[in-house]
Amino acid sequence: MKVAILGGTKGMGRSLARALAERGDHVYLLGRDAEDLERSAKDLAVRGENRFEVQHGPCDLGEPEKFGSALDAASDSLGGLDLVVLTAAIYGDQAELEEDTERARQLLVLNFANTVAFCEEARKRLLAKGGGTLCVFSSVAGDRGRKPIGIYGASKAGLSAYLEALDHKFRSEGLVTICVKPGFVKTGMTAGLQPPPFAGEPDEVAAIVVKAIDKKTPLVYAPGIWRYVMLVIKNLPRFVMRRINF
Ligand SMILES: NC(=O)c1ccc[n+]([C@@H]2O[C@H](COP(=O)([O-])OP(=O)(O)OC[C@H]3O[C@@H](n4cnc5c(N)ncnc54)[C@H](OP(=O)(O)O)[C@@H]3O)[C@@H](O)[C@H]2O)c1
Repeated sequence: MKVAILGGTKGMGRSLARALAERGDHVYLLGRDAEDLERSAKDLAVRGENRFEVQHGPCDLGEPEKFGSALDAASDSLGGLDLVVLTAAIYGDQAELEEDTERARQLLVLNFANTVAFCEEARKRLLAKGGGTLCVFSSVAGDRGRKPIGIYGASKAGLSAYLEALDHKFRSEGLVTICVKPGFVKTGMTAGLQPPPFAGEPDEVAAIVVKAIDKKTPLVYAPGIWRYVMLVIKNLPRFVMRRINF
């Protein structure tokens, strides 16, 4: 597959980019840090059996006006696009976001409005050539309004709803939309946070997501146990949610 990935330099995105390169997919990295992109591209290039050269290009989630040209550059370099992956996002501590309304607004813009704008540019390009797959990382944090992650969770709740609608609307035209909902996964994003039970590793998530891409599964929890954890949380009454700090 010809794959463009935004967020493939770190965490789960890096693990996923590696897994795809290792099985022979052609990967194009999008990101905002040129040195990081160069280093990651070299790392990916030696992973595939055929040792493809891995190209990269600039794309900042904060600059939506450049999303279309960034995806076009990826498509030109790869000779088309079969799969677009978006793992990039930011996290914010709830207490800090409650103190700093501007930071909260920025997080909502990046994780929701600009993420949707990126998906829209990818959608148009994939549909224009008959279809393809759009795989986007949302979060279990969007499954329920939760005290410790209310604002970050709201950005992911909106994203999950958008991705579901995209899959309903465009699957028949050949666009497969995959919404990945990681639970707690040990990456730079969660460094310094106390890992809860069932915390996952990025490589474990990547293996699950590769399978979901191949099987065209529209919604995937990773690690899988989080589907059941969230089933319980989604069914807790409000008076319990007000008391617990989850
Ligand atoms: N880790 C978890 O427990 C967890 C749980 C649920 C959902 N998720 C979601 O899963 C996804 C991946 O998370 P992760 O833990 O792997 O994150 P991570 O290790 O922090 O990596 C995030 C990636 O996003 C990129 N990024 C951030 N801001 C960007 C911007 N403005 N423009 C372009 N790229 C930007 C980063 O690039 P730079 O190096 O340039 O910043 C990095 O490559 C995210 O959507 C996250 O919300 C994570």
